[in-house]
Amino acid sequence: MTVITKPPETPSRPAPGPVGRRLVGVLPDVKRDPIHYLMKIAQDYGDVVCLPVGPTKVYMLTSPRYVGHVLQHNHKNYRKSDFYKKVQPVLGLGMITSDGDLWRSQRQLTQPAFRRERIMALGEIMLERTNEAVSRWQGPASRHEQIDISFEMMQLSLEIIVRAIFSRDIGSDADTIVDCVTTMLAEAERRVWSLYDLPLAIPTPNNRRVSAALKTLNAIILRLIAERRSETEEQNDLLSFLLAARTDDGQPWSDQQLLDQVKTLIVAGHETSGSALSSTWYLLSKHPHIRERLEREVAQVVGDRAVAVADLPKLIYTTMVIQEAMRIYPPAWTISRAAIEDDVVGGYKIPAGATVMLSPFLVHRNPKFWPNPEGFDPDRFDPDNKDAIADFSYLPFGGGARKCIAEHFAMMEMVLAVATIAQRYRLDLVPGRRIEPMPMISMRLGPSVPMTLEQRSHRDVRTDSSVRAA
Ligand code: HEM
Repeated sequence: MTVITKPPETPSRPAPGPVGRRLVGVLPDVKRDPIHYLMKIAQDYGDVVCLPVGPTKVYMLTSPRYVGHVLQHNHKNYRKSDFYKKVQPVLGLGMITSDGDLWRSQRQLTQPAFRRERIMALGEIMLERTNEAVSRWQGPASRHEQIDISFEMMQLSLEIIVRAIFSRDIGSDADTIVDCVTTMLAEAERRVWSLYDLPLAIPTPNNRRVSAALKTLNAIILRLIAERRSETEEQNDLLSFLLAARTDDGQPWSDQQLLDQVKTLIVAGHETSGSALSSTWYLLSKHPHIRERLEREVAQVVGDRAVAVADLPKLIYTTMVIQEAMRIYPPAWTISRAAIEDDVVGGYKIPAGATVMLSPFLVHRNPKFWPNPEGFDPDRFDPDNKDAIADFSYLPFGGGARKCIAEHFAMMEMVLAVATIAQRYRLDLVPGRRIEPMPMISMRLGPSVPMTLEQRSHRDVRTDSSVRAA
């Protein structure tokens, strides 16, 4: 049963905010420069701001207390916002886009696959993929060529998630999945920033291209699911874990549900980790003393042998560096919800149906909670200082009931990747290139992040020239 906390009977005022332009509101301003515009708005109007966006009003909350109210304390009054409907034709009805009973059963069926001990079993896949990527860099490194670390990290995280789902070699299907997902994501990104979208069924050239990619992707995943269902031997991968799951009343996934869920895991699981990894390399190259400390930790913990899953608990500073990189550039830079009934937040009325936007990016830059918010300082995440971090002031993985299901998976993948790469190479940003945060569906640095590679260790490296030059 859904219990919604009624707002207290205190008088509520309309939230302040900019007037915006006729019909479109502030959308053109947000679209032009989301980061600076929203930071300025938060500065000018405070912790609760009402933004007119096309025909609707969006309430932006930047105080951890209010974020906690929406995500946890009164979360039953909030469903996923209509923003997620925009990407539904592309992503399907997986866990990211669903609500209510459908979401609950999907979460219940997916949760066991992400238990810590199962995720640990996927560590070898993560290491294998990272070693493979790192080996490919020997050619560019010896030729002093640049690589685009943003592209490389996206590829790596996509390869990791595809292999974590379908552990076996799926040959050219893997490349086709990567191509189709890239097309789908570009379309999802376009939809996020448009006010109105034509249904995919209308055969414009763009819709035809996206529909073809979706059809191919669906066919491959359904075939891989059918093949797996017919096998008797259980594999150690996410697909096997998902197939083994049952709801409380004994129901397994249907093929359609499984298809939407697999697509969701691929999309949710690669953009975010890929962008966090490239931000980490960017920040490390800008802060050589922090990079040296990280390299020292990897040398002390790992030495000359290959990085192993068992090293994870000892790679403490490496973990802190990644946590701080996600504070400065949180990949999921906004989280949005829609109010089911009227609510009051910070004395301001949030009317039923209104969209509420919570921005980890703005919360992470709030100087009341993060002194010197622009500074890259991994010591903020020293495990001994954990209690100094206020609730909901750090939320790269969201919070409350819908917190990222794969937080441990993502942290493990990123720590193993950073340690493996730092052991072999030192990455330096090509001087003179302007790198900006690009808030798309996830926050990425771009347009590209060209880096040079200095080889640090020659252990176990193979030559391959198939790396995309920056
Ligand atoms: C650095 C990496 C990652 C970040 C920063 C991240 C961030 C997030 C955030 C903020 C949410 C909550 C969204 C909301 O409340 O609306 C979320 C949900 C989710 N994430 Fe992640 N994520 C990451 C990696 C992954 C990976 C690797 C996977 C899959 C393997 C994944 C799967 C999901 C799923 C399925 C949900 C929906 C959970 C639900 O609604 O119950 N994420 N993630």
